[in-house]
Amino acid sequence: MRKRTAILISGRGSNMSALIDAAKAPDYPAEIALVVSNNPDAPGLARAREAGITTAAIDHRPFGKDRAGFETALQSILDAHGIELVCLAGFMRLLTAEFVAKWQGRMINIHPALLPAFKGLDTHARAIAAGAKTHGATVHFVVPEMDSGPIIAQAAVPVLADDTPERLAARVIVVEHKIYAAALRAVAEGRNRVEEEPD
Ligand code: GAR
Repeated sequence: MRKRTAILISGRGSNMSALIDAAKAPDYPAEIALVVSNNPDAPGLARAREAGITTAAIDHRPFGKDRAGFETALQSILDAHGIELVCLAGFMRLLTAEFVAKWQGRMINIHPALLPAFKGLDTHARAIAAGAKTHGATVHFVVPEMDSGPIIAQAAVPVLADDTPERLAARVIVVEHKIYAAALRAVAEGRNRVEEEPD
């Protein structure tokens, strides 16, 4: 049985599209059953609908500081669709430890850096400013601490002398799409799983 998978987005959704495309292969072990955005205007929602995927928007703003309230709404949509795996793909909201615990080992994230280097935002500009010669992307299991958790896949790209953050981002996003599809395959097949609480 293909694992019913939800993708959570906040914006453009190019990683989402890569996962939707990968899941078209008959032997792909995950089915993209739902795309959810915290931003009702996320361009990725339209892209998902065009691909025939069920979408939902849960605007986080009316919840204010009530992160748990937002997550209760999110959880009930995931439950309603029988979701087994969650992929964060440019989902720019921090999740509470309680929500993360519920999805322990079943929720993965892509981050545009070679973790543990450059957690957080503006990773491409920071890699250039630090003089890094190599940069890249990481797919990892989600744990309560941001941009941490067991690593499933990484890919590296060179940082070139004349790089701007935009040029470097364009090089990184290409490998993001490849490793995310490969990582979701590995997790959905059970080849990559969390067997104990990470330290
Ligand atoms: C991607 O580069 C992803 O790695 C990054 O946001 C971008 C979303 O692009 N995620 C984070 O920075 C998470 N902290 P996309 O919407 O086109 O997939």
